Amino acid sequence: MKKVFVNGYGSIGSRITKFIKDDPDIDVVGIGKHSSNEKVQHVINDGFSVYVPGDKIDNFKNYDISGSIESVIDNCDLVIDASPGGNGFVNKKNIYEPKGIKAIFQGGETIFNDNAVADILFNSRVNYTEAFNKKYVMQGSCNVTGMGRILNPLREKYADKLARFDATLIRRWADLEQTDKQTVDTIEMTEQPHHATDVKAYFGNDVPLFVRAIKVPTKQMHLHIMDIRFNGNAPTSNEIHELFKNEYGVAILWTAKGTKDIRDFAESTKFSFKDTNMLHIHANMTTSTGDTIQLMYSDDQTGIVIPENYMLLQAMLFQRDYKDALKRTEKLFNMDQKKKLLEEHFSKKD
Ligand SMILES: NC(=O)c1ccc[n+]([C@@H]2O[C@H](COP(=O)([O-])OP(=O)(O)OC[C@H]3O[C@@H](n4cnc5c(N)ncnc54)[C@H](OP(=O)(O)O)[C@@H]3O)[C@@H](O)[C@H]2O)c1
Repeated sequence: MKKVFVNGYGSIGSRITKFIKDDPDIDVVGIGKHSSNEKVQHVINDGFSVYVPGDKIDNFKNYDISGSIESVIDNCDLVIDASPGGNGFVNKKNIYEPKGIKAIFQGGETIFNDNAVADILFNSRVNYTEAFNKKYVMQGSCNVTGMGRILNPLREKYADKLARFDATLIRRWADLEQTDKQTVDTIEMTEQPHHATDVKAYFGNDVPLFVRAIKVPTKQMHLHIMDIRFNGNAPTSNEIHELFKNEYGVAILWTAKGTKDIRDFAESTKFSFKDTNMLHIHANMTTSTGDTIQLMYSDDQTGIVIPENYMLLQAMLFQRDYKDALKRTEKLFNMDQKKKLLEEHFSKKD
């Protein structure tokens, strides 16, 4: 049994915890909370022990906390850091590194420059075994994970026939449960988005990927619009859909009018957290013209990285064989069943 501590219980940390607790080889020893608010009691009610920064213990005297983060970490095998972007680096320097504990970081961190949390950015479909002997690994963000999941099968199949990828990322403003975060009536432009550089961390700097990003006032997923240019004629749309037919974590939908349709279906079908945990290719929007495939897919922002964290955990703690890890991931997340239900519900109507 391996002991895992989850530092941060927001959108990502709470989801990871509630799934990995069902792996019989994992003991979730506790959760790190940083603000003394009513959410402390929610964590306790969810059945987990709460630990807080040693120098803030006095702020939590109204709650039944179990001790300091610093002390619990001495007694575990790995930390999943799910803190707001940038805090993971600070936690690494102040706690994980001095204590020599393995750690997984999330997509709001970086693997570049002086604030690097790791020297590897993870995508289970691309570099699963490279995480086996690492002490620190960063899980790619939701957008980076999504692009990797699309680009990897294309690269495997078409290799030198691919000339260039141009992606426009239409990013959601906030997450569903962030009820205190107002969406603002604007379309915000993102200068120098990190996503292409992050994707190139596992595909190499020479990948001809060009990314633009904007943020729009919705909480219902990201949408990526991607133009894939080929040397010579592009394949047909059908050939592209066939390529992704059996891809784990990718559903092919024909009749979803928008991202909220998918979220509403996930809710009505009682998927955990209303997440699909995957990408959805909007097949009705695919075109093949001359040398270019135009592709659109939506990316379940909170859901997609959770099974990825679990794959990463299995690589770092157990060095499980890829197929075995995927089988166990399927057992916890039921992604094949979710994909089947989504594809049936949003199937092509002739
Ligand atoms: N949300 C997404 O869709 C999404 C998708 C992919 C990746 N990510 C990445 O995942 C990470 C977490 O994002 P999130 O959306 O889960 O954020 P979030 O909902 O704001 O949750 C962050 C949690 O971290 C806790 N926290 C605050 N300061 C901390 C510290 N110094 N050390 C440890 N924990 C701390 C907060 O606890 P208190 O309330 O106690 O302060 C809060 O529960 C970020 O790197 C983000 O970029 C997010």
